[in-house]
Amino acid sequence: MKKITFTLLSIATMALLTGCGDKPKSDIVTYKYTPAEVYTATCAHCHGDKGEGMPSKKGPAIDKKTIPELEMDLFDIKNGGVGQSTATEHDVMEHNMKKLKEKGYEYDVKAMANYIYNTFNRAK
Ligand code: HEC
Repeated sequence: MKKITFTLLSIATMALLTGCGDKPKSDIVTYKYTPAEVYTATCAHCHGDKGEGMPSKKGPAIDKKTIPELEMDLFDIKNGGVGQSTATEHDVMEHNMKKLKEKGYEYDVKAMANYIYNTFNRAK
């Protein structure tokens, strides 16, 4: 009996994960940390506390980018360069991304783009 329940649960979970519903995947995936927490813990040391950039780490300023620009960059970075980003070299970040995922610092591209824009963009 226990085994059957477990099997049914597994199927339900898999259906959820593969996104059988109408909702897009990003709506049902929950992340361990908020974009703010991820940024402070893992992005700030290369892009600066305020997204102003950090030349010593070669991290470019990201405080003047629009939400669509940020989304494209982040999508590109997360997907190994298949996006339409105008950024040329994403090697550093892609490398870093694998490590971040292992530590649970996964994030939603849209949410992160919004966070960076709303928090750092001075051109508003
Ligand atoms: C090890 C240093 C490092 C870390 C950590 C890092 N970045 Fe980057 N980031 C870079 C470098 C270098 C570039 C430019 C070259 C590249 O894309 O690899 C970049 C590029 C970007 C770009 C594109 C900007 C542009 O003008 O091309 C965005 C957006 C960005 N990073 C966001 C983030 C976010 C969000 C995080 C945290 C999840 C993060 N970065 C963590 C070094 C880093």
